[in-house]
Amino acid sequence: RSGQSEKDVDDSDRRGTRVRVTGRVHRCRAQKDVIFLTLQDGYGLLQCVLTGDLTKTYDAMTMTLETSLEIYGEMWEVPPKQHAPDDRELHADYYEVIGKAAGDKEAITTRAAPDADPQTLYDNRHLVLRGDHASAVMKVRAALLRAFRQTYEEITPSCLEVTPPCMVQTQVEGGATLFAFDYYGQKAYLTQSSQLYLETCLPSLGNVFCVAPSFRAEKSLTRRHLSEYTHVEAELDFITFDDLLAHLELVMCRVVELALTNPQIAKLILDLNPKFEAPERPFKRMRYADAIEWLNEHDIRTGEGEPHKFGDDIAEAAERKMTDIINRPIFLTHFPAEIKAFYMRKDPQDPRVTESVDCLMPNVGEIVGGSMRMEDYDELMEAYKRVEIDPTPYYWYTDQRKYGTSPHGGYGLGLERFLAWMCGRFTVRECSLYPRFTDRCTP
Ligand code: 4AD
Ligand code: MG
Repeated sequence: RSGQSEKDVDDSDRRGTRVRVTGRVHRCRAQKDVIFLTLQDGYGLLQCVLTGDLTKTYDAMTMTLETSLEIYGEMWEVPPKQHAPDDRELHADYYEVIGKAAGDKEAITTRAAPDADPQTLYDNRHLVLRGDHASAVMKVRAALLRAFRQTYEEITPSCLEVTPPCMVQTQVEGGATLFAFDYYGQKAYLTQSSQLYLETCLPSLGNVFCVAPSFRAEKSLTRRHLSEYTHVEAELDFITFDDLLAHLELVMCRVVELALTNPQIAKLILDLNPKFEAPERPFKRMRYADAIEWLNEHDIRTGEGEPHKFGDDIAEAAERKMTDIINRPIFLTHFPAEIKAFYMRKDPQDPRVTESVDCLMPNVGEIVGGSMRMEDYDELMEAYKRVEIDPTPYYWYTDQRKYGTSPHGGYGLGLERFLAWMCGRFTVRECSLYPRFTDRCTP
């Protein structure tokens, strides 16, 4: 049926001709002798007008939202501002109900009840997705995925897409957030990041990227943490830290630009987030040590109410406050080694800190985490020792340093956080098709 959707045909020669459309009732307005149905399919909305005997049937008189229909009729152009999407409407001469919808959840599908209990909305995510807001976010999400792939192909040198495994036996971002499971009698984990695998691709594939799920057993319920999220990661060979920052800036700006070039997507973004502005390069650079000072100057305290000191993790709340005040993208760089992952390369000028970067965006905070990687075998082995991880299962990773090492680095971008920033959503849960977070793995 989708192949025959009304939107598939060239409108110009079908206006005034008889067409068949299929879809679900998104809105329904009944007046004396006329019923206006707004039909929805994946392509958009179409106003359909039922008149005369068509309005007198039992089906018409008991029409519920989300009922699926097949309608035949003539397409008419209508003057603008008559509330007909795309200024046209279908004047029906025949229709059939394919599946009548139980009318009990209309408030959920139309989001007419924005203050509904969040648990009810999560339980009914499959129906919430039919609403204007949720479906708009998912359309922008799809556009962003297209834009990332296009951007990675476009840039010089381009990045090749690879698909690393999700079932692994190593950790990347700390044992505390690992999801473990039984793998034929052995312990295995759901991947936290594909970074280590991407690094192994550099010698023969060159720069690479992947779009893959990452899993974190996050125990805290925050606006920006999911247990499963979509991770856009890239790894670049023979680069400097400055190259990494320049690449990241370019990719993020290009992805936004591509999304906004599509007028339908631009409209969805601006409807969701009227204040959205495309970021400008260069992003503000700020070293971690300067951020600590900035936080203290602005009297933004740690979670314990203390002033910040060098070596503190900057908590989500403080990070967001700072980003919201500065109100533009920030590259926060050179984090101390002891608060960052074991694999990060030390800054040759100041070995207390690493060549690391978080990209912070207003309303969300950290959207990207990246770094240069330790390229020296012995130094990497020392790093394993420091964090008390047995390097044995990582032989395939440490081998990279034995068989032709190189200065390289990369990053991971949380797609849901990127979307939350672009679409002005309060939480990343609105940016995932079926969000997974503490206590929620359904539907
Ligand atoms: O900062 P993170 O933990 O870095 C890494 O995983 C690196 N290994 C990536 C790399 O260099 N290839 O995660 C990267 C990004 C974060 O900035 C955030 O946007 C997102 O992944 N992220 C999450 N998004 C949603 N829910 C969570 N629980 C997330 N944890 C990280
Ligand atoms: Mg991070």
